Amino acid sequence: MAAATETCSAAPLQDALHAYGIQAWHIGRLWNFTLGLCVLVFSAVVGAFLFALWRAPRSDAQTPPDLSSLERPERRIHRTVAWAAGLATLGLLALLAADVFTSRALGRLPLQDAVNIELIGHQWWWEARYLDPDANRQFTTANELHIPVGRPVIVTLRSDDVIHTLWVPNLHGKRDMIPGRTATMQFRADQPGIYRGQCAEFCGLEHAMMALLVEAEPNAQYEAWAARQRQPAPALDAGPAGDAARRGRALFLAHSCARCHTINGTGATAAMGPDLTHLAGRKTIAAGMLPNDAGHLASWIRDPQTLKPGVYMPVNRMRPDELQDLLAYLETLK
Ligand code: CUA
Repeated sequence: MAAATETCSAAPLQDALHAYGIQAWHIGRLWNFTLGLCVLVFSAVVGAFLFALWRAPRSDAQTPPDLSSLERPERRIHRTVAWAAGLATLGLLALLAADVFTSRALGRLPLQDAVNIELIGHQWWWEARYLDPDANRQFTTANELHIPVGRPVIVTLRSDDVIHTLWVPNLHGKRDMIPGRTATMQFRADQPGIYRGQCAEFCGLEHAMMALLVEAEPNAQYEAWAARQRQPAPALDAGPAGDAARRGRALFLAHSCARCHTINGTGATAAMGPDLTHLAGRKTIAAGMLPNDAGHLASWIRDPQTLKPGVYMPVNRMRPDELQDLLAYLETLK
């Protein structure tokens, strides 16, 4: 596998030329073959062109045109063109065969013990539902997937509004998310790491700001993360320590926040925006756009329209002390 010696780095990778999963490796091999063949064809065409220039008769503006070739049969040229056409056809057939073999290889990923995720595209964020036959074990998160290394992942793709495209180049190719249809994508991460995905279909004003982080980690770590996600929002500290957070929670529920977001374990159950039950555990906010820290969160809550114009989150006017309370509450959502 390519890049086997590279270690997991903190900066997310988004690079189709470095495979960290078997599916991306198959696609990378197809790309290398296509590139190699096209380089050969290009070199041959340029070579033939230079050869023709080199052996063309020297002439100037006064030289009369040489029309003799119109009467003379040119067997050699016919032969050369026939060979070139035959080779070009063989090249195209080779590309077609490589394409078919790659598709078949992609379809052969073993799917036992797969993690099932339903991924829904929204303008401009990703909703992820981790499916389970036992409904009590299902949970919802947003904009960041965690997956276990070495286990297959089956992602069912849907869209809530317009066409989006899932693309996490280090793990797999692209797949469209079309309103009213479902598609699936199967992949496996073979090394731990954080892989950045990007919506790859123009879907409106903030298309470029629609990123998805995929964090591949050892199975035990993944299971621990999933177990935390299944829990409702943690209880707030008793006594004065939790006062600010309690005021923040009351504000969240009374303010417009609860009309769009869910926080399990509270009265907030709306699904317009991302589920915030475990917001504090995420690395980024606004679909991979900003780091998830108090400063960025405060700017985002106050005025998302300046940071991400057109986003469906409204401007929130609140006093600085209210904002501090709200931040204190959001920080508890681990
Ligand atoms: Cu979603 Cu582009």
